[in-house]
Amino acid sequence: MNELWIWLLIVAVFVLLICAVGAICLIALGCGVSVVSYLIFRYKKRSFKMDEKFMKAYVKSAAGQIVIRDWSEDLRNRVGNPDAYLKLVLDNNAAAMAFDLFKVEQLMDTLEDYAKFMSPGHDIGHFRRDGLSAMILFNGINGHPADKLAGLIAGWAHDIGNAMTARYQDKVNNASHASVSAWALNMLGRNMMPDGVLDLACYAVLAHGHMVATLNTTFPEPFKVEPYWADLWVNEGVVVGWANQIARKADRMDTCALTQLARHFLSRCHGVEEAGEDLADANTWVTTGGDGLKAIFKPTLGKFKNVPTTLQHCRNYEGSYQAFNSPYAGQDYMVPVFGRFTTYKFSQLDRIVAALRDFNITPLDITEIKVVMSHISGALPSSFEQAWEVFLIEWELLNDDEQNAWGRVFRVVQEEYQKLLGHYLEVTANTPMAPLAQKLVASLLSQ
Ligand SMILES: [Fe+2]
Repeated sequence: MNELWIWLLIVAVFVLLICAVGAICLIALGCGVSVVSYLIFRYKKRSFKMDEKFMKAYVKSAAGQIVIRDWSEDLRNRVGNPDAYLKLVLDNNAAAMAFDLFKVEQLMDTLEDYAKFMSPGHDIGHFRRDGLSAMILFNGINGHPADKLAGLIAGWAHDIGNAMTARYQDKVNNASHASVSAWALNMLGRNMMPDGVLDLACYAVLAHGHMVATLNTTFPEPFKVEPYWADLWVNEGVVVGWANQIARKADRMDTCALTQLARHFLSRCHGVEEAGEDLADANTWVTTGGDGLKAIFKPTLGKFKNVPTTLQHCRNYEGSYQAFNSPYAGQDYMVPVFGRFTTYKFSQLDRIVAALRDFNITPLDITEIKVVMSHISGALPSSFEQAWEVFLIEWELLNDDEQNAWGRVFRVVQEEYQKLLGHYLEVTANTPMAPLAQKLVASLLSQ
């Protein structure tokens, strides 16, 4: 009997031991899973939230369009007037002054993961050069710290939505590419910078286009989008409104001259697939395909079937600078640093246009032109090739003289682009932006 009790006791102790070990293992496993989940959530959270395919599907959906549209309108109500904007700037100056610029780099590294999906013409090359333009403007202006910091972010990130939405559906979609860009910046940057500064930056991104008339959009439902307020003004001796203006001017610093030429070809060729419309000036829309595509391949100044050729388009942009009756360019005179940079770019455009009639220049062949265009764009091969197929179809319709004219033009574009990258470094040297600018130029060189 005693033996039986001893055995029962041994078995009971054994079972208890197994249970205890099992419990410890389960607790350890639970802790391990929790820690790993936390780490994944903490460091990879953004990838889960912003998976590129998921984002594209969401932005395209009726539900996504309405959520982004309503979020944008709420942002407009909270930030899009001088009183609210100024209050936000003043309330966030201290936070902006204490903000480490290294965190700007962190945010932009995060955005680069999405920028690689941006479409040809509005691509990662544009994104990176926008960053450089925003830095040049940031260095060259006086203003409140919160206003300037928001401008740096907004100027850099203003087109990020082109990674997930069709660029040429702004006339149709309730949520334009600017809305999607602002919303995406908000999603990614919310925990990476002061809330008020991010609100200013997101509003500036939302307002970076240059429409001046109400837009009657139709998808997923009829919705009127009103133009956005985005003025510079002087308050107690300090210019205010820089976030809005840096977003617009950074865009224009890349949408001019040499880079405009390359981007115009690529965005139009890519746009054939989207078959949408683009804002030609303040409130005129043009289709992205048809005769418009024929016109951009004419190696001349002037018009073809009433559409400006590529080089004429670049010249027209030059003419629009300092246009006092334009909400887009009306305040250029308040930003001398913008004038200096664009003067450099238009001197490059003069040399590019002169190549049309300079027969001493050895033309690039079509393979070399493709290398130049791909280098300036940086778009993923899958989307670049789609645009390039369209380019080749139009190219084959040109005669030898026309192809040679473009070959000479692109020889100069190739040379001047390298000089442009050097110019970014020169202008930002010996400024707080120098390390970031060097990093961006290195990325542009290697793309
Ligand atoms: Fe844009």
